Amino acid sequence: MKDSIRVIDSIQEMREYRSMIYETKNIGFVPTMGYLHEGHLSLVEQSNRESDITIVSIYVNPSQFGTNEDLLTYPRDIDRDLELLSKYDVDAVFYPSSEEMYPEGYSTWVEVDGLSNKFCGASRPGHFKGVTTIVSKLINIIRPLYIYMGEKDFQQIAVLKKMVEDLDYGLYIRPCPIVREKDGLAMSSRNAYLSPEERINALCLYEAQLMAKDMIYKGERDIHAIITKMNRHITSKGGKIDYIEFVEPDSLEIKKQLEDNIRVLMAAYIGSTRLIDNFEITV
Ligand code: PAF
Repeated sequence: MKDSIRVIDSIQEMREYRSMIYETKNIGFVPTMGYLHEGHLSLVEQSNRESDITIVSIYVNPSQFGTNEDLLTYPRDIDRDLELLSKYDVDAVFYPSSEEMYPEGYSTWVEVDGLSNKFCGASRPGHFKGVTTIVSKLINIIRPLYIYMGEKDFQQIAVLKKMVEDLDYGLYIRPCPIVREKDGLAMSSRNAYLSPEERINALCLYEAQLMAKDMIYKGERDIHAIITKMNRHITSKGGKIDYIEFVEPDSLEIKKQLEDNIRVLMAAYIGSTRLIDNFEITV
């Protein structure tokens, strides 16, 4: 429990702070875009359990937003974020500006082929290139041993794991379970966009998961039939499906046969808000 948190806004100061930490100490890093909720705080808690030092970054990364996306309206409240983090054992918050992260003339990008172009990457071209670039930069500045990430962004974790492996970063991505509202909606900073009516309808993503699990429990083995029923339910609540796919959790290859260790990835629009969710199935 900390009263006031060390907030660092320059790369140089962050490097200086980092260089003062003994090499034997494990650094846990929680990258965020702020507007923190219990999902983010569960990552901080996990870092507190496993790491000697916990560093959180708060940065709304412009390069992962498409031109018609919500960069300008993305919710921000740094005072509230710092207040929430002050209740945890956070050693430093890295809160850089865009001038700091992408100075004039910036021109280097990190991209994971293949995995970045499907599902969310197909609907949001360039999104994962922005994510892998900013996370690479943050890794180079903070040099953590563990990076804590929420499984709600399941594809993001798969892409970043591949980047870490391919570029020999020598660190571990630690996926943490999705945190849900009491009624089942996966926590997301973007839930703030939902009107009261949309908030009720948004539950259809979770309800569709329960339906799928129930069908499987009762013996359904036809993936197409399960997706069709999920689709119908979401559409009946006014949702517009982007994708629902049954995939292998690391390669994200689409599965045609129902078997153990499958992740179901889903994205849908509720009004103009794009929500994602996913769940694991065992047969
Ligand atoms: O998951 C997020 O909030 C962002 O994609 C991340 C990992 C902080 C990179 O900007």
